Amino acid sequence: MSFNALGFLALEAVNFAYPERGNVVKDISLTLAPGEIHCLIGRSGCGKTTLLKLAAGLLKPQTGRIQLKGQDVDQPVPDMGFVFQTPTLLNWLSILDNVLLPLSLHGKVTDAQRAYGEQLLSQMGLTPYRHEKPLQLSGGQQSRVAIARACITRPSVLFMDEPFASLDAMTRDALQNDFLTMCHAQGTAVLFVTHDLNEAVYLADRVSLLNEGHIHPPLDIHLPRPRDNNLRFTPPFNLLCQQLRQILDAQ
Ligand SMILES: Nc1ncnc2c1ncn2[C@@H]1O[C@H](COP(=O)(O)OP(=O)(O)O)[C@@H](O)[C@H]1O
Ligand SMILES: [Mg+2]
Repeated sequence: MSFNALGFLALEAVNFAYPERGNVVKDISLTLAPGEIHCLIGRSGCGKTTLLKLAAGLLKPQTGRIQLKGQDVDQPVPDMGFVFQTPTLLNWLSILDNVLLPLSLHGKVTDAQRAYGEQLLSQMGLTPYRHEKPLQLSGGQQSRVAIARACITRPSVLFMDEPFASLDAMTRDALQNDFLTMCHAQGTAVLFVTHDLNEAVYLADRVSLLNEGHIHPPLDIHLPRPRDNNLRFTPPFNLLCQQLRQILDAQ
Protein backbone atom coordinates (compact mmCIF):
# COMPACT_ATOMS: atom_id res chain seq x y z
CA MET A 1 0.00 0.00 0.00
CA SER A 2 1.45 3.34 -1.02
CA PHE A 3 0.71 5.16 2.25
CA ASN A 4 3.09 2.90 4.18
CA ALA A 5 6.09 4.86 2.98
CA LEU A 6 4.74 8.10 4.46
CA GLY A 7 2.51 6.83 7.19
CA PHE A 8 -1.16 6.13 7.22
CA LEU A 9 -1.86 9.76 8.09
CA ALA A 10 0.87 12.01 6.78
CA LEU A 11 1.41 15.75 7.02
CA GLU A 12 4.21 17.08 4.85
CA ALA A 13 5.68 20.55 5.28
CA VAL A 14 2.35 22.06 6.29
CA ASN A 15 2.03 25.83 6.77
CA PHE A 16 -1.05 27.65 7.92
CA ALA A 17 -1.77 31.31 8.68
CA TYR A 18 -4.92 32.97 10.00
CA PRO A 19 -5.27 36.20 7.95
CA GLU A 20 -5.33 38.48 11.01
CA ARG A 21 -2.78 36.45 13.02
CA GLY A 22 -0.02 35.36 10.60
CA ASN A 23 1.63 31.94 10.48
CA VAL A 24 0.65 29.67 13.40
CA VAL A 25 1.64 26.29 11.89
CA LYS A 26 5.17 26.40 10.52
CA ASP A 27 6.50 23.78 8.15
CA ILE A 28 5.16 20.84 10.14
CA SER A 29 5.65 17.24 9.03
CA LEU A 30 4.12 14.42 11.04
CA THR A 31 3.13 10.81 10.45
CA LEU A 32 0.72 8.52 12.20
CA ALA A 33 0.90 4.74 11.76
CA PRO A 34 -2.22 2.54 11.71
CA GLY A 35 -3.35 2.02 15.32
CA GLU A 36 -0.74 4.44 16.68
CA ILE A 37 -1.58 6.82 19.51
CA HIS A 38 0.33 10.03 18.93
CA CYS A 39 0.06 12.86 21.45
CA LEU A 40 0.74 16.51 20.67
CA ILE A 41 1.69 18.67 23.61
CA GLY A 42 2.58 22.31 24.00
CA ARG A 43 1.65 25.50 25.75
CA SER A 44 -1.65 27.25 25.23
CA GLY A 45 -1.69 29.15 21.94
CA CYS A 46 1.18 27.18 20.33
CA GLY A 47 -1.05 25.89 17.51
CA LYS A 48 -2.24 22.46 18.71
CA THR A 49 -5.92 22.90 17.84
CA THR A 50 -5.05 24.47 14.50
CA LEU A 51 -2.78 21.54 13.62
CA LEU A 52 -5.47 19.04 14.61
CA LYS A 53 -8.05 20.85 12.45
CA LEU A 54 -5.63 20.80 9.50
CA ALA A 55 -5.00 17.06 9.92
CA ALA A 56 -8.75 16.45 10.01
CA GLY A 57 -9.51 18.52 6.91
CA LEU A 58 -11.42 21.18 8.87
CA LEU A 59 -8.88 23.81 7.77
CA LYS A 60 -6.87 23.95 4.55
CA PRO A 61 -3.11 24.60 4.68
CA GLN A 62 -1.67 27.41 2.54
CA THR A 63 1.22 25.14 1.60
CA GLY A 64 2.08 21.50 2.23
CA ARG A 65 0.17 18.26 1.92
CA ILE A 66 -2.04 16.11 4.14
CA GLN A 67 -2.95 12.54 3.21
CA LEU A 68 -4.97 9.80 4.84
CA LYS A 69 -4.37 6.33 3.35
CA GLY A 70 -2.77 7.91 0.31
CA GLN A 71 -5.73 10.25 -0.40
CA ASP A 72 -5.48 14.03 -0.06
CA VAL A 73 -7.48 15.26 2.92
CA ASP A 74 -9.54 18.29 1.90
CA GLN A 75 -12.58 17.72 4.08
CA PRO A 76 -13.56 15.53 7.03
CA VAL A 77 -14.53 11.98 5.97
CA PRO A 78 -16.54 9.25 7.81
CA ASP A 79 -13.29 7.40 8.38
CA MET A 80 -12.44 10.10 10.96
CA GLY A 81 -13.92 10.74 14.38
CA PHE A 82 -13.63 13.88 16.52
CA VAL A 83 -13.80 14.56 20.22
CA PHE A 84 -13.50 18.15 21.41
CA GLN A 85 -12.85 19.60 24.85
CA THR A 86 -16.55 20.09 25.52
CA PRO A 87 -18.72 17.05 24.71
CA THR A 88 -21.28 19.12 22.67
CA LEU A 89 -24.16 16.65 23.12
CA LEU A 90 -27.73 17.43 22.05
CA ASN A 91 -29.75 17.82 25.23
CA TRP A 92 -33.09 16.78 23.71
CA LEU A 93 -31.80 13.40 22.48
CA SER A 94 -31.19 10.31 24.61
CA ILE A 95 -27.62 9.16 25.22
CA LEU A 96 -28.05 6.35 22.67
CA ASP A 97 -29.48 8.72 20.06
CA ASN A 98 -26.58 11.12 20.65
CA VAL A 99 -24.17 8.27 19.95
CA LEU A 100 -26.11 7.32 16.79
CA LEU A 101 -26.29 10.92 15.54
CA PRO A 102 -23.43 10.71 12.99
CA LEU A 103 -25.39 7.84 11.37
CA SER A 104 -28.94 9.20 11.74
CA LEU A 105 -27.89 12.45 10.04
CA HIS A 106 -27.38 10.37 6.88
CA GLY A 107 -30.49 8.18 6.98
CA LYS A 108 -32.31 5.51 8.92
CA VAL A 109 -30.22 3.71 11.53
CA THR A 110 -30.15 -0.07 11.03
CA ASP A 111 -30.62 -2.61 13.83
CA ALA A 112 -26.98 -3.62 13.48
CA GLN A 113 -25.85 0.01 13.87
CA ARG A 114 -28.08 0.46 16.91
CA ALA A 115 -26.61 -2.71 18.42
CA TYR A 116 -23.12 -1.35 17.81
CA GLY A 117 -24.10 1.92 19.55
CA GLU A 118 -25.26 -0.13 22.54
CA GLN A 119 -21.98 -2.06 22.48
CA LEU A 120 -19.94 1.15 22.54
CA LEU A 121 -22.03 2.47 25.42
CA SER A 122 -21.41 -0.78 27.25
CA GLN A 123 -17.63 -0.46 26.67
CA MET A 124 -17.82 3.05 28.10
CA GLY A 125 -19.75 1.80 31.16
CA LEU A 126 -22.90 3.70 30.20
CA THR A 127 -25.47 0.96 29.55
CA PRO A 128 -27.69 1.98 32.51
CA TYR A 129 -27.83 5.56 31.16
CA ARG A 130 -28.58 4.90 27.49
CA HIS A 131 -32.15 6.23 27.65
CA GLU A 132 -31.26 9.23 29.87
CA LYS A 133 -30.67 12.76 28.56
CA PRO A 134 -27.16 14.32 28.61
CA LEU A 135 -27.97 16.83 31.37
CA GLN A 136 -28.68 13.90 33.70
CA LEU A 137 -25.04 12.75 33.35
CA SER A 138 -21.84 13.93 35.05
CA GLY A 139 -19.08 15.68 33.06
CA GLY A 140 -17.04 12.48 32.89
CA GLN A 141 -20.03 10.48 31.66
CA GLN A 142 -20.76 13.11 28.99
CA SER A 143 -17.14 12.81 27.80
CA ARG A 144 -17.65 9.06 27.53
CA VAL A 145 -20.71 9.63 25.35
CA ALA A 146 -18.70 11.94 23.09
CA ILE A 147 -16.05 9.21 22.67
CA ALA A 148 -18.69 6.57 21.86
CA ARG A 149 -20.28 8.96 19.33
CA ALA A 150 -16.90 9.56 17.67
CA CYS A 151 -16.41 5.79 17.30
CA ILE A 152 -19.86 4.94 15.89
CA THR A 153 -18.72 5.21 12.26
CA ARG A 154 -15.82 2.81 13.05
CA PRO A 155 -13.22 5.43 12.10
CA SER A 156 -9.66 4.37 11.45
CA VAL A 157 -8.44 7.61 12.99
CA LEU A 158 -9.66 9.72 15.90
CA PHE A 159 -8.81 13.38 16.48
CA MET A 160 -9.01 14.38 20.13
CA ASP A 161 -8.62 17.98 21.33
CA GLU A 162 -7.97 18.01 25.10
CA PRO A 163 -11.09 15.90 25.69
CA PHE A 164 -10.35 15.21 29.37
CA ALA A 165 -8.96 18.63 30.33
CA SER A 166 -11.94 19.72 32.43
CA LEU A 167 -12.28 16.44 34.40
CA ASP A 168 -11.02 15.72 37.91
CA ALA A 169 -7.86 13.60 38.14
CA MET A 170 -9.46 10.29 39.12
CA THR A 171 -12.20 10.53 36.50
CA ARG A 172 -9.55 11.40 33.93
CA ASP A 173 -7.39 8.39 34.86
CA ALA A 174 -10.38 6.03 34.50
CA LEU A 175 -11.36 7.54 31.15
CA GLN A 176 -7.82 7.26 29.82
CA ASN A 177 -7.84 3.53 30.60
CA ASP A 178 -11.25 2.87 29.03
CA PHE A 179 -10.32 4.98 26.03
CA LEU A 180 -7.12 2.98 25.47
CA THR A 181 -8.96 -0.32 25.80
CA MET A 182 -11.49 0.78 23.19
CA CYS A 183 -8.87 2.08 20.73
CA HIS A 184 -6.80 -1.09 20.96
CA ALA A 185 -9.86 -3.31 20.56
CA GLN A 186 -10.71 -1.49 17.32
CA GLY A 187 -7.18 -0.76 16.10
CA THR A 188 -8.00 2.95 15.95
CA ALA A 189 -5.17 5.42 15.35
CA VAL A 190 -5.36 8.58 17.43
CA LEU A 191 -3.95 12.09 17.20
CA PHE A 192 -4.48 13.35 20.73
CA VAL A 193 -3.88 16.95 21.82
CA THR A 194 -3.19 17.62 25.47
CA HIS A 195 -1.27 20.11 27.59
CA ASP A 196 -0.81 17.47 30.31
CA LEU A 197 2.61 15.77 30.15
CA ASN A 198 1.53 12.81 32.28
CA GLU A 199 -1.52 12.21 30.11
CA ALA A 200 0.63 12.30 26.96
CA VAL A 201 3.13 9.77 28.33
CA TYR A 202 0.41 7.47 29.67
CA LEU A 203 -1.55 7.34 26.40
CA ALA A 204 1.00 7.63 23.65
CA ASP A 205 3.21 5.48 21.50
CA ARG A 206 4.92 8.72 20.48
CA VAL A 207 4.75 12.28 21.78
CA SER A 208 5.47 15.38 19.68
CA LEU A 209 6.08 18.79 21.21
CA LEU A 210 4.78 21.93 19.60
CA ASN A 211 6.37 25.30 20.25
CA GLU A 212 5.07 28.49 18.62
CA GLY A 213 3.99 26.63 15.51
CA HIS A 214 7.14 24.49 15.21
CA ILE A 215 7.27 20.76 15.95
CA HIS A 216 10.06 18.76 17.62
CA PRO A 217 10.97 15.24 16.44
CA PRO A 218 8.68 12.81 18.28
CA LEU A 219 9.77 11.02 21.45
CA ASP A 220 9.12 7.25 21.48
CA ILE A 221 7.29 6.05 24.58
CA HIS A 222 8.50 2.52 25.25
CA LEU A 223 6.19 1.60 28.11
CA PRO A 224 4.33 -1.72 28.44
CA ARG A 225 0.77 -2.16 27.16
CA PRO A 226 -1.90 -2.56 28.25
CA ARG A 227 -1.27 0.43 30.48
CA ASP A 228 -2.01 0.05 34.15
CA ASN A 229 -2.55 2.75 36.78
CA ASN A 230 0.51 1.53 38.71
CA LEU A 231 2.66 2.57 35.75
CA ARG A 232 1.98 6.21 36.67
CA PHE A 233 4.20 5.81 39.76
CA THR A 234 7.15 3.96 38.18
CA PRO A 235 10.64 5.39 37.46
CA PRO A 236 10.48 4.83 33.64
CA PHE A 237 7.19 6.74 33.46
CA ASN A 238 8.49 9.63 35.55
CA LEU A 239 11.73 9.74 33.59
CA LEU A 240 9.83 10.23 30.32
CA CYS A 241 7.69 12.98 31.91
CA GLN A 242 10.88 14.65 33.13
CA GLN A 243 12.50 14.41 29.67
CA LEU A 244 9.49 16.07 28.04
CA ARG A 245 9.40 18.72 30.76
CA GLN A 246 13.07 19.53 30.14
CA ILE A 247 12.48 19.93 26.40
CA LEU A 248 9.50 22.22 27.10
CA ASP A 249 11.45 24.28 29.65
CA ALA A 250 14.38 24.68 27.26
CA GLN A 251 12.13 26.38 24.71
N1 LIG B 1 -9.92 31.51 14.17
C1 LIG B 1 -8.79 32.14 14.51
N2 LIG B 1 -8.50 33.35 13.96
C2 LIG B 1 -7.34 33.99 14.27
N3 LIG B 1 -6.41 33.51 15.11
C3 LIG B 1 -6.65 32.32 15.68
C4 LIG B 1 -7.85 31.57 15.42
N4 LIG B 1 -7.80 30.41 16.13
C5 LIG B 1 -6.64 30.44 16.81
N5 LIG B 1 -5.94 31.58 16.54
C6 LIG B 1 -4.62 31.94 17.07
O1 LIG B 1 -3.67 31.00 16.60
C7 LIG B 1 -2.74 30.63 17.60
C8 LIG B 1 -2.81 29.11 17.81
O2 LIG B 1 -4.12 28.78 18.33
P1 LIG B 1 -4.56 27.30 18.69
O3 LIG B 1 -4.26 26.44 17.53
O4 LIG B 1 -5.96 27.38 19.16
O5 LIG B 1 -3.57 26.96 19.89
P2 LIG B 1 -3.65 25.86 21.06
O6 LIG B 1 -4.71 24.89 20.69
O7 LIG B 1 -2.28 25.28 21.12
O8 LIG B 1 -3.97 26.62 22.31
C9 LIG B 1 -3.12 31.45 18.84
O9 LIG B 1 -2.31 32.56 18.89
C10 LIG B 1 -4.55 31.85 18.58
O10 LIG B 1 -4.84 33.08 19.18
MG1 LIG C 1 -6.46 24.31 21.70
